[in-house]
Amino acid sequence: MSTFGLLQIGLMLSCTTKISSLHCNHLPLQQSKVIESSLQLLDKMGEKFPRQCLGEKMFFRFPEQVLKARQKETVKVAVEEIFQNIFYIFSKNLTLAAWDGRALEQFQNGLHQQIEQVEACVIKKQTHYFWSREASRLKLKKYFQKIDCFLKDRQHSLCSWEVSRAEMRRCLQFVDKVIRRLDD
Ligand SMILES: *[C@@H]1O[C@H](CO)[C@@H](O)[C@H](O)[C@H]1NC(C)=O
Repeated sequence: MSTFGLLQIGLMLSCTTKISSLHCNHLPLQQSKVIESSLQLLDKMGEKFPRQCLGEKMFFRFPEQVLKARQKETVKVAVEEIFQNIFYIFSKNLTLAAWDGRALEQFQNGLHQQIEQVEACVIKKQTHYFWSREASRLKLKKYFQKIDCFLKDRQHSLCSWEVSRAEMRRCLQFVDKVIRRLDD
């Protein structure tokens, strides 16, 4: 995303902060919507998984246990953590991915907007959740680091991006299932 694009989002957000605080109570619903549109955009930005990349498939082992925490709050925070990590992955060199630029930008903007809005409400000082959050954060960090290194090792090649896109789809589908069970 260009700096200009980020600036635009920044400006838009500064005008909607009053509204976003209302969303704090409906976070799982909001997260569900972001996941739904992100999944659609992931499909829209490229074709089906290319045959020539089949040999490069990887198993990244998503840490499912981070979404199985007992406190809803911990799960919601883990989901935000996932959004941030996906946003970070998709801010890398996408030149060789050759995806639909418009769908890609919408995908990035959707995640970015969500991250900014939620920072204003969830990530308040909930110190008693600190330890379980830190453990989850580390597990997620490891998982996303593996993807990041995989992309780097393969110089952000077309196939490494396709493998990562498929992985992000699986990850979001799993999060989606969990979030649907969290009714507030
Ligand atoms: C991104 O990757 C392409 C193809 O490998 C390369 O030509 C380009 O210089 C890279 N851009 C950046 C900003 O690293």
